[in-house]
Amino acid sequence: MTISLTTLARRGAQVLALTALASSMAAAQTPGKLKVGLMLPYTGTFASLGTAIENGFRQHVTELGGKIAGREVEYFKVDDESDPSKATDNVNKLIKRDQVDVLIGTVHSGVAMAMAKAAKESGTLLIVPNAGADAVTGAMCAKNIFRSSFSNWQPGYAMGEVMAKKGIKKVVTITWKYAAGDESVRGFKESFEKGGGTVVKELSLPFPNVEFQGLLTEIAAAKPDAVFTFFAGGGAVKFVKDYAAAGLKKSIPLYGSGFLTDGTLDAQGADADGLFTALHYADSLDTKRDNAFRLTYAKTYKLQPDVYAVQGYDAAQMLAVGLNATKGDASKAAEISAALVKATIDSPRGPFTISKAHNPVQDFYLRQVGAKENKKVSIASAKLEDPARGCKL
Ligand code: PHB
Repeated sequence: MTISLTTLARRGAQVLALTALASSMAAAQTPGKLKVGLMLPYTGTFASLGTAIENGFRQHVTELGGKIAGREVEYFKVDDESDPSKATDNVNKLIKRDQVDVLIGTVHSGVAMAMAKAAKESGTLLIVPNAGADAVTGAMCAKNIFRSSFSNWQPGYAMGEVMAKKGIKKVVTITWKYAAGDESVRGFKESFEKGGGTVVKELSLPFPNVEFQGLLTEIAAAKPDAVFTFFAGGGAVKFVKDYAAAGLKKSIPLYGSGFLTDGTLDAQGADADGLFTALHYADSLDTKRDNAFRLTYAKTYKLQPDVYAVQGYDAAQMLAVGLNATKGDASKAAEISAALVKATIDSPRGPFTISKAHNPVQDFYLRQVGAKENKKVSIASAKLEDPARGCKL
């Protein structure tokens, strides 16, 4: 068979045209960068918590080669100052101005509730890497809202069980008067009173105040068997030091949800020694997974990781699971949800699953402070699931 030169030329041109068409179609399908909006506290009493979350998140993205579901990650950052009154404006900087694909934030429960509302209204994917506000995976739950951390109810409930089992009868609680404090105490009270204990007094002060003196005097006068508390970050450092300085540590044992002594031990020094807390992480898990995570974190950031770093890391893991199911499309909330509720997240804290309401179902450890570590004592509550009150999903 002979083919004329003109036919050959025509075929060549057709091949070229087809190649050009195919590559332009591929370009149209290749999603652009994945815009990740980090809304975290970078100033104030929770500043170090925000940094740890960002560090953990970036650590996993780096392990993935800087890409999630084939999309290169680009970061947008807002300092939310843990200020609920600025939260709606702040989250809209990320949603409307920067048009992020996903929101990661935040630490403070009041700020997180404003983020959840904005995420629900705009349909933007949200992963909460700390704030425990029960409503986020309760009454406000939504198919595009997830949490990689805990609900405030969870560590409180775990500690209440432990304290009731120890035979403690009369407890005074003390915390900041806002969602996280109120809900931690409520979770604590639920299991503690079920186990036969009584909360004789509930003390509080506004967030982020640290003038504890008057309240410590009230604790001394009430003479309870023990104290249960929720404080975190800079406030937790000051509370533990003031409690010891007031001479109460020897006479009235102090217990807390684990934030009391997480990421704070260097600053608390000996005043934290011996304290028992409950949390979904500990410094001495000594598993292959956690050891590898801790080594990389310490080398990269010249810091020891804490629960906040783990929650940031796991937010990135959850995002990857969700987006791998949608080929990188962050708007397909139903598909992301379906993938996450059947996943097991291989966390440094130990494997966890995600409830229908999108909150981790996880083990809570009883820990005791010693030699600047939160050492695991036992499992206080295995596979503890938040009751997700008011969530209809
Ligand atoms: C919260 O506001 O939900 C919160 C803040 C700091 C913590 C834990 C919970 O360490």
